[in-house]
Amino acid sequence: MPSIYNLAAAGLLDPGVKIVGLDHHDLSGATWTAKLADALHPTDERAWSFLTERLDYQRLDFTAAADYAALAQRLDAAGNALFYCAVSPRFFEPIAEGLAHAGLLEEKSGRFRRLVIEKPFGSDRDSARELNATLTSLARETQLYRIDHFLGKEAVQGIPVLRFGTRAFEPLFNRDSIASVQITAAETVGVEGRGGFYETIGALRDMVPNHLFSLLTLVAMDAPRSYDADGVRDAKAALLAAIRPLAPGDAVRGQYAAGTAGGVAVPAYRAEDRVAHDSRTETFAALDVRIDNDRWRDVPFYVRTGKRMSAHVTTIALTLRAPAGPLDAQPTAPHLLLIGIDPQRGLVQRFAAKRPGVELLVGRADAGFRYETTFDEPPNVGYETLIYHALCGNALLFQRDDMIDLEWAALQPVLDAWGAGGEPEPYAAGDDGPPGAAALLARNGDRWLDVAALDTLGAPAASPA
Ligand code: BG6
Repeated sequence: MPSIYNLAAAGLLDPGVKIVGLDHHDLSGATWTAKLADALHPTDERAWSFLTERLDYQRLDFTAAADYAALAQRLDAAGNALFYCAVSPRFFEPIAEGLAHAGLLEEKSGRFRRLVIEKPFGSDRDSARELNATLTSLARETQLYRIDHFLGKEAVQGIPVLRFGTRAFEPLFNRDSIASVQITAAETVGVEGRGGFYETIGALRDMVPNHLFSLLTLVAMDAPRSYDADGVRDAKAALLAAIRPLAPGDAVRGQYAAGTAGGVAVPAYRAEDRVAHDSRTETFAALDVRIDNDRWRDVPFYVRTGKRMSAHVTTIALTLRAPAGPLDAQPTAPHLLLIGIDPQRGLVQRFAAKRPGVELLVGRADAGFRYETTFDEPPNVGYETLIYHALCGNALLFQRDDMIDLEWAALQPVLDAWGAGGEPEPYAAGDDGPPGAAALLARNGDRWLDVAALDTLGAPAASPA
């Protein structure tokens, strides 16, 4: 709803649009509108009245056929409709079935009927395939919009433009120039009261096959033949198909113990609400991913994510190979290309520059840009582009069935091994994962970049190295 409000404020919603809230609570349209006002604190009166004139509410028990029949009565039979399932994953199938049996997914007489599915899409390869089989028996692939909200982030949408929009950059993205890649999504929060949900999912399923593999595909894929849904998703699927299925030894899991976050003492994961006192759920995962194609052979893609780490930062850091030749002998900070996704958004290239003075000494210099200082940005909470594209029938930023299958396929051996036993390694809240995460890279002679230092995008270089 915040995104829909922002779309209304930007004048991007059709005046004929109607928004129907559906939930099992018995609310009137007026009560729902009042609840939304409390949550959104709208300041743009024109946009708010545009929305409130178009809001409606209906009670809907997700498993009651009669409620879907009532919804069919309420909707204009000739009208388009987008059904957005922002619900617990266990309701995806009953909702799709309820809609289909009431005829609500039928596309006829020029009307479109689309279904937006939030993540997580399945919990492993088999369950994702089953869910997909159910959905595609009820609707066509072109009606299905599988969300990965990372793909709606401006800085993520911008990755192909950085890579393919400037001729000088693209030649860097391969094994000749890049020694390794580190993709980090570190959070300082714990499970934020979602212990019940998190217990069933864990860090790997929650973040990797969707969000972090989306970052990986965008940074590693070949140039798409076209910038439309088919061209870009074909390029992504080809990259996903080249990921070598991970061996259990290529992955490390951790779970936060008591520690500190933002200077405040915080409890262990096992002491969180609705978490088992002997839980084996991981709150941290680190992987060494390899891509078996000519562009990336032997370049490690290190991926890590976790709750209760030292800083909140999502970045892709590409370490460039050291220069060949005499200057190589001088110690410099690593040559990096850093793509900031959150909270700093933009790009920094870190390179060598001569330090002023009588001797030839190499220092470190940074060049780059930040979205907020380079462009005017409309208010954005992250879902605006996704909802707008889904309304327009543009699947560019949505997951296709084959992509989801390939993502799970790469991780399935690790899921199987972790499911069979063992425990995550503990790490103190406020630390950046367990010792095993460092060991995963040390076996290749590599080290993780410091999480807190990753968010210095656009800040002046620290004292020259
Ligand atoms: C969600 C996960 O999909 O992404 C959460 O379920 C996680 O556990 C969140 O906190 C992170 O997204 P963002 O946009 O806040 O980085």
